[in-house]
Amino acid sequence: MSTAVTPDLPAEVDLRTAPGVLEGARDLELTPERCDLPYWFDHVAGGMLRQLRDGTIPDPEPTAAVLTPGPLREALVTEFAFRHLAEAKATRALTQLVFHAPDEACLEFFSTQLIDEARHARAFRDHLLRLGVPAGELAATVRKYAAEDGAAVLDPLEKFGLGVLDTGDFHGGVLVLTVLVEGVLAPAAELSERKWRRFDPAAALIERAANVDEIRHLAVGSAVIRRLLTEQPGQRQRLLDVLGRGHELWQRLPMADLLLRRETLFQQGLAEHAALAEGYQVWPDRLLLDTTAQERMAAAELWSHETQQSRLAYMLLAEGDAA
Ligand SMILES: [Fe+2]
Ligand SMILES: [Fe+2]
Repeated sequence: MSTAVTPDLPAEVDLRTAPGVLEGARDLELTPERCDLPYWFDHVAGGMLRQLRDGTIPDPEPTAAVLTPGPLREALVTEFAFRHLAEAKATRALTQLVFHAPDEACLEFFSTQLIDEARHARAFRDHLLRLGVPAGELAATVRKYAAEDGAAVLDPLEKFGLGVLDTGDFHGGVLVLTVLVEGVLAPAAELSERKWRRFDPAAALIERAANVDEIRHLAVGSAVIRRLLTEQPGQRQRLLDVLGRGHELWQRLPMADLLLRRETLFQQGLAEHAALAEGYQVWPDRLLLDTTAQERMAAAELWSHETQQSRLAYMLLAEGDAA
């Protein structure tokens, strides 16, 4: 085991110093030129991923609370099976962003994002193995726990995003991915990281590492849109229309039902394994044990709203910005 890390590892990809989603997803500034292939090889593969491989960041074990049958395990398997499907879909959709990339910097950056999402898909799926799902039952387990929710929520989002990209609208596609997919899912992933920390620190670490990537994706995606609208302000209305159609779609998706089911199972598990969460604050001044399913959902929704608003303002797409 070594604690040697690349000395010049930028703070945003160092698992010891990277901001959480709530700060990083709102404020961090990164461009596709900065996050090119050498950046990814040196700082992601050779930096953050190396920290996970070489033991700089210890890899803890899931606790018995999620290894034995019960609602807590059920909640985790349901959540990670769904995340696997979401990340796999994101990977496939990214092929189209790479295809339509208008320049070398975007081609390189979105190629790295494609690999990141494929890594996430694998990490969420492989965690199911660690939870004791037999390898031969992995695909069937993902189907059983997540296929229905995937069809209800992920398929319509995918259809919408690919529809935008089918017209060759690269920036519309970036906007859909950045605001409507990652902008919504990243704050939910932050909640997940915090929720699982005591019951399955390994699951929380997977979320943490994925979240560090998602912050970079959000930051670069927003920089791409900001640059377009700085250079071509006439494109603004077109992008606002894409956003409007996307928000309409979100209104129709049964995401709240899905989250309520997920949090209700978690709540039952929380009651059953309360001793493990003793004294643990899920956010400042709030004990996880005192929260309800509805309260956690409301917190994630607020985080997601705030993240979207600050990113839209940075992209010059906030309401009230001059056209
Ligand atoms: Fe991801
Ligand atoms: Fe991402």
